[in-house]
Amino acid sequence: MAETPTRGAVIVTGASRGIGRAIAEDLAAAGYRLALVARDAQRLQEVAAALPAGAEVMTCPADIADPARVQAVVDEVQARYGAVWGLVNNAGVTADGLLMRMSAEAWKRPLAVNLDGTFHFTRAVAPLMMRQREGRIVNISSVIGLTGNAGQANYAASKAGIIALTKSVAKELGGRNVTCNAVAPGFIATDMTADLPDKVRADMLARIPLKRFGEGKDVAGVVRFLLSPEAAYVTGQTLVVDGGMIA
Ligand SMILES: NC(=O)c1ccc[n+]([C@@H]2O[C@H](COP(=O)([O-])OP(=O)(O)OC[C@H]3O[C@@H](n4cnc5c(N)ncnc54)[C@H](O)[C@@H]3O)[C@@H](O)[C@H]2O)c1
Repeated sequence: MAETPTRGAVIVTGASRGIGRAIAEDLAAAGYRLALVARDAQRLQEVAAALPAGAEVMTCPADIADPARVQAVVDEVQARYGAVWGLVNNAGVTADGLLMRMSAEAWKRPLAVNLDGTFHFTRAVAPLMMRQREGRIVNISSVIGLTGNAGQANYAASKAGIIALTKSVAKELGGRNVTCNAVAPGFIATDMTADLPDKVRADMLARIPLKRFGEGKDVAGVVRFLLSPEAAYVTGQTLVVDGGMIA
C-alpha cells in the first residue's frame, strides 16, 4: 500500500549540508519520513541526529554516480518504509574553469554526479512509484542551466540536462500519477558559494531584485510545495527560486 503523502518516505540526496540539509530539516518538520543520502556517513549521522525529536530518518551513505549503490539505497529505503513517496535529487558538484582550459575529466565530473546521479536515482524509484500509482520527483537544477555561465560550461550542461530529463520523466511517468519537476535556485548562500570572490558576490547581489542572497530554506519551501497535495497537477515544470535575478 502506498503511504499517505504527509507520512510518505522521501529520499533526499546531498543531505549532509547546504540546501539538501535545509530540505531535510523542512521535510522532517512537515512530518515526512526521510532517507538521507550523501557520501560522508558521519556528517549524515550528524544531520539526522539534529532533526527534531520524533523525526523518522535513515541515513544512506552513497556516491550517487555509482548506479549499483543507488539501486541498493532505493532497495534499503523500500525495505525500511514499504514505499517511496518522493525523491529529491539535490546532490551536486561544480568543477569550474574556462572552456579552453577545461580537461576532459573536469568536463565529465558535474555530468557524472549532477546529471547521471539524477538519472540513476530516478530510474531506481520509477518502477516503485509506477506500481503504487503515485510519487513525486523533484530535481534541483540551477539558473545556470537556463542562462549558461562563463567558466561553468560543464555545470551548465549538467543543469540544463536535468531540466530536459525532468520534462521527459514527467511525460513518461505522468500516466501513473507520478510528477517530476525541477527547481532552479539562483545564488544560495552555502559552502558551494562561500569561496566566490567578494567582487563576484557583489556583482551578483546587484543583479538580485530582492537584494539578498537566498537561503537553503528558500529552496526547501518550494521543494515541500512540489511534494505536497497542492502540487498534484504540476509536472514537467522548472520553478526558479532566485530573488528575481533572471526574471
Ligand atoms: N548554492 C547555490 O547557490 C546553488 C545554486 C543553484 C543550484 N544549486 C544546486 O543545489 C544543490 C545543492 O547545492 P549546495 O549549495 O547545497 O551544495 P553543497 O556543496 O553545500 O552540498 C552538496 C551536497 O551534495 C553532496 N554530494 C556531492 N557529490 C556527491 C556524490 N557524488 N554522491 C553523493 N552526494 C554528493 C555533498 O556531500 C553535499 O551533501 C546542488 O545540486 C547545486 O548544484 C546550488
